[in-house]
Amino acid sequence: MPVLMEGLSRLEYRGYDSAGIALLRGKKLDVFKRCGRVAQLQTILPKRSAAVCGIGHTRWATHGEPSDENAHPHLDNAGEIALVHNGIIENAAEIKTFLEQLGHVFQSETDSEVLTVLIAHELREAGDHDLTGAVRRSLLRVAGTYGIAVLGKDFPDEMVVARNGSPVIIGIGDRETFVASDATALVPYTRQVIYLEDGEVARLTPSTHEVQDLQAVVADKPASTIDIEDMLVDLGGHEHFTRKEIFEQPEALLRVLRGRVDQRFNTAHFGGLNLDARQMMGFHRIKLLGCGSALISATIGASMIERLARLPADAESAAEFRYRNPIIDQTTLYIAVSQSGETHDTLAAVQEIQRKGGHVLGVVNVVGSSIARQCGAGIYLHAGPEIAVVSTKTFTNTLAALALFALYIGRMRDVAPAEGGRIIEALQALPAQVQQLIDRADEFEVVGRQYAEYDRAYFVGRCEGYGLAQEGALKLKEISYIHADAYPASELKHGPLALIDARTPTFVIIPDDDLQSKNLSTISEIRARKGPVIAIGQAATLGTEVDTYVQVPRSHPLLDPILLLIPLQFIAYHAAIARGCDVDKPRNLAKSVTVE
Ligand code: F6R
Repeated sequence: MPVLMEGLSRLEYRGYDSAGIALLRGKKLDVFKRCGRVAQLQTILPKRSAAVCGIGHTRWATHGEPSDENAHPHLDNAGEIALVHNGIIENAAEIKTFLEQLGHVFQSETDSEVLTVLIAHELREAGDHDLTGAVRRSLLRVAGTYGIAVLGKDFPDEMVVARNGSPVIIGIGDRETFVASDATALVPYTRQVIYLEDGEVARLTPSTHEVQDLQAVVADKPASTIDIEDMLVDLGGHEHFTRKEIFEQPEALLRVLRGRVDQRFNTAHFGGLNLDARQMMGFHRIKLLGCGSALISATIGASMIERLARLPADAESAAEFRYRNPIIDQTTLYIAVSQSGETHDTLAAVQEIQRKGGHVLGVVNVVGSSIARQCGAGIYLHAGPEIAVVSTKTFTNTLAALALFALYIGRMRDVAPAEGGRIIEALQALPAQVQQLIDRADEFEVVGRQYAEYDRAYFVGRCEGYGLAQEGALKLKEISYIHADAYPASELKHGPLALIDARTPTFVIIPDDDLQSKNLSTISEIRARKGPVIAIGQAATLGTEVDTYVQVPRSHPLLDPILLLIPLQFIAYHAAIARGCDVDKPRNLAKSVTVE
């Protein structure tokens, strides 16, 4: 029980609507589950338990609201089978009707309970002696995604796990076997792991593991060693992980740069691209894919690549991309961006590209994650574990990684050595410049608190500034629940201006570049409608009045977005604190979205 609870605490940031555990003791399955956080589950647990086998889960609701009934683990009617499930069973309604006709009754609204009852049904049909077989046969009837762990009351010391689209990692200990959806939960116990692939099932006992496919063909899967530190998640004196991770950005930047700057040729190099210069030069286009903040960082990264390397580059939502039957072109290099490396839509886009013969690299933070393994090549972000649900340091590190990549491609093409040298100097100065901004946290706190009382906000910018506007708006709405929209500054007059009034502040990203005068005109248009303006810029003075001006240091234009971003992170954080929000675990969200 303590192992399960420690694991759930480590993984809680990935889903926190409800939590539960099932313990297998003798021939009895005891289930404890509770709507709410892991701490609430703790209050209903027995002081101790003799059980040595169990499963646990924290939920991010897909089917059915967060409630005690909908929490996992689920039991079938007879209490024979307990199951935890990540993913979505798409044909659950159909299977449920079939099982109801046989007399099964359901306690919850979840697709996961349907799978539990189906496994119990298959087990009984086949004479109750082969849990793995019952799981395999059930999964053959199921459409959708799953990472599951199953216990049977008549199967002491046995657990069956399976994967299709949602991660399952087996940890091999000393006469102990562990399972988790993320290596973070395994590192206190073992470094020896086996990553299940889609379509694989494993039968586990304390000292054995047998992996097979759904047709029962046994696979020989050697264990690999995970090379990650024990990511004990402590706040390090900060009040929230969000704040801690904002503060960690200088160190995180040092890590993403380390070993990747080539001062001899004024370029960047990467250990894991697995492409030589000739192959790289064969690509005529770059397409980046991601979701949420990863998509926003990919959009800014695409601009960096296109501007510097003069190679056409754009970014697209991974989910949209995979469903629009994209044309995959051998001369396009695809890049999947994902902090967790587990985002289902991004993983599915990678698989679609590879299925059509395209070449895809991963830009990923979590080492050994599904997207990293699926791509087999790419750039690790080395930002360290990001626990807060919203991305901060991984966003910054993605921008830095993509800037390095832009430099690398740029130097193969048009960028002169001297310009490469200037970018390298700017990259090396970046961690200290970000630190200077972090040292001004109190100033940004005042701004965040000041605008916390508004119900809505706009964020505008041009080119990369528009990307930052999107990120600023997403951060603010995610953690403070203030409605925030982002627009290219030029778009305001085409509609959104209708909502500008004294109660609608606009955050304007205004770098000191060729477009500064255009952004100043946008500011005038907003102020003429009495809209409060908060400008995030670089010039010593803007030459026009704004309600709040935040000046950030200059870098190379390629890297300016990183510095302009930092105040936006602080503003969202402090607005959320002022509004009493749970910043680290915003409502309705989860850190890693392994479902569609
Ligand atoms: C926003 C945020 C999300 C993620 C998105 C993709 O703060 O964190 O929008 O960026 O869910 O996640 P990854 O990067 O893990 O693929």
